[in-house]
Amino acid sequence: MKSELNNISLSTTDAGQGLPLVFLHGFPLHRGAWQMQIDALRSSYRVIAPDLRGFGESQTRPGPATMPQYAADVHALLQRLLTGPVVLIGHSMGGYVALAFARQFSEMLRGLVLVGTKAGADTSEAAAGRRATAEKVKAEGVQVVVEAMAPKMLAAGNQDPRLVGQVRGIMNSSTTKGVIGALLGMAERPDSTGLLAQIAVPTLVVTGADDTVIPPAESEKLARAIAGAQMRTIPHAGHLVAFEQPEEFNRLLVDWLNRTGLASMPSTSS
Ligand code: MLT
Repeated sequence: MKSELNNISLSTTDAGQGLPLVFLHGFPLHRGAWQMQIDALRSSYRVIAPDLRGFGESQTRPGPATMPQYAADVHALLQRLLTGPVVLIGHSMGGYVALAFARQFSEMLRGLVLVGTKAGADTSEAAAGRRATAEKVKAEGVQVVVEAMAPKMLAAGNQDPRLVGQVRGIMNSSTTKGVIGALLGMAERPDSTGLLAQIAVPTLVVTGADDTVIPPAESEKLARAIAGAQMRTIPHAGHLVAFEQPEEFNRLLVDWLNRTGLASMPSTSS
């Protein structure tokens, strides 16, 4: 489905009925990274997964794609889809967007799931590194980022050629404009640590035990800072935990939705 909003066309999967679960992918991915959640959960929930601007089939504009901009796109999409408040599930950069969404649109949140992500901003060195990478992508293309990131997405021991090929396929579909925008946007994102104490909806934090991109210690920090947050570590999983261990991830998510009572809340979705 394509929606014209905020001067771009945003592509989204919107499947099933019931409690709206909104999945935000990481960098440099697209909504296909959530396909195994979409397939498994659409029979019981309304599953919504946009391609963030500049990724997959969504358009973007030149310049930094800031976390508040991505969050504003998601908010505009949810208004268009008449979802009412949602459970927002963000992986890595999608988690940065979820935190921006929580800051800007808390009235639209029923629950939050933070997957392989963190609240802190980039150090000045990390931000400079992202800007240098953006320059390199401009000169040499998205391969620069794909080659650097693809080997780190799955657990070090996992060389499953099917999964490795799928991850590379998703990454290779990224455009230079989308990747540069996200790099510049992540470099300027604010520190969200102060926001965590204000999060008042049920929250689940999930990490892959073997995540080397955003190590489990970052998830532990999130879980400690958010009142009542549950933390789960999935073994034999790297950064792309929901993709690498979909059955375990889906089981944890559904279990948490049931235990928090979110699963049985009346849905306002259309
Ligand atoms: C991601 O997976 O979204 C990125 O690794 C996040 C980041 O680079 O900070």
